[in-house]
Amino acid sequence: MPDSLKQDIKAGKIPLLDLTPEIEALWDELLKAIQGVLKSGQFILGPNVKAFEEEVAQYLGVKHAIGVNSGTDALVIALRALGIGPGDEVITTPFTFFATAEAISHVGATPVFVDIDPQTFNINPELIEPAITPRTKAILPVHLYGQAADMDPIMELAEKYNLKVIEDTAQAFGGEYKGRKLGTIGDAGCFSFFPSKNLGAFGDGGLIATNNDEIAEMARMLRVHGARQKYYNEIIGYNSRLDEIQAAILRVKLPHIDEWNEARRQAAKRYNELLKDVPGIRTPYEVPYAKHVYHQYTIRVMNGKRDNVKQFLADEGIGTMIYYPVPVHKLPVYANSNCHLPEAERAAGEVLSMPIWPEIAEETQIHIARGLEEALA
Ligand SMILES: Cc1ncc(COP(=O)(O)O)c(C=O)c1O
Repeated sequence: MPDSLKQDIKAGKIPLLDLTPEIEALWDELLKAIQGVLKSGQFILGPNVKAFEEEVAQYLGVKHAIGVNSGTDALVIALRALGIGPGDEVITTPFTFFATAEAISHVGATPVFVDIDPQTFNINPELIEPAITPRTKAILPVHLYGQAADMDPIMELAEKYNLKVIEDTAQAFGGEYKGRKLGTIGDAGCFSFFPSKNLGAFGDGGLIATNNDEIAEMARMLRVHGARQKYYNEIIGYNSRLDEIQAAILRVKLPHIDEWNEARRQAAKRYNELLKDVPGIRTPYEVPYAKHVYHQYTIRVMNGKRDNVKQFLADEGIGTMIYYPVPVHKLPVYANSNCHLPEAERAAGEVLSMPIWPEIAEETQIHIARGLEEALA
């Protein structure tokens, strides 16, 4: 365990996320995997990346998995591979990490923001159809906090209007929608292995999942400067490869992801029970047809008290986070779109993500729940 974290815990501080139990449990295996890469002398797109791609494809039940440098790059490359570019519009949610919209802008397309469902925080499918124009080429739902966006109506609209669907699954590795793995329902699913994600590397990493051979081939080209064959570059691409050390680490972790996600669900259940009678908050709504993987356990703090509650908890040594304080359509680069999306704007003022990780102890959660009660008293 890093000394800084040991000191924090000794001082009674509770972090938002503690990765150390996971690292400690797998310490020997992780070291062996990293040493194996060092001994092999192959550091980029070698046997570990290939094996990891096959293992993820099998886990997700999808034909192709293509490792890239980050979740952001996965989105950019998936959009490019689907032929989305200048002049096109992509419908997405404003209540997400900036990278979702940034990727759309990077390929020269325009993000069109549609408001969220206040219960799930995910894009409201009922509001998508009115936003479709002749320029709309794709819908990009985000499975925020680890909970599935409502994919059936999204796929129906995509079929009706001949649109592509790209799932931003950065926060939802292992999550499900009606028995199907998230990231495998649309044309392409984009994953992030940023260290804090449910399946996290020890640096940046990302992946595109698809059942479509052409998208896969294009994505494989785009990640290596647009070349099918080295030095015979055909299109303008990127340098966006998953490296061997990250792939080797992810291969050690992948077999544990279901057990870790289940532990997160159990932790969420405990929070729900502990917080059920606390006035002035709303615990997360879990849609019955999906398997939430609780990348975040995010409550709403009502009546304008969120920032005070966050500060109170911080003073008690309890780490919390606001994902996200400004909805993307209100950030300076998109603010000229002038749109008003009341549910996303309301959520930005009310959400508070509580500490969660697979091994979080019940006593820790009881302490946090007490802190929350005091903050609201
Ligand atoms: C919803 C969402 N989309 C995209 C990304 C981008 O992933 P990365 O940080 O790996 O580029 C993230 C990660 O922070 C995310 O949470």
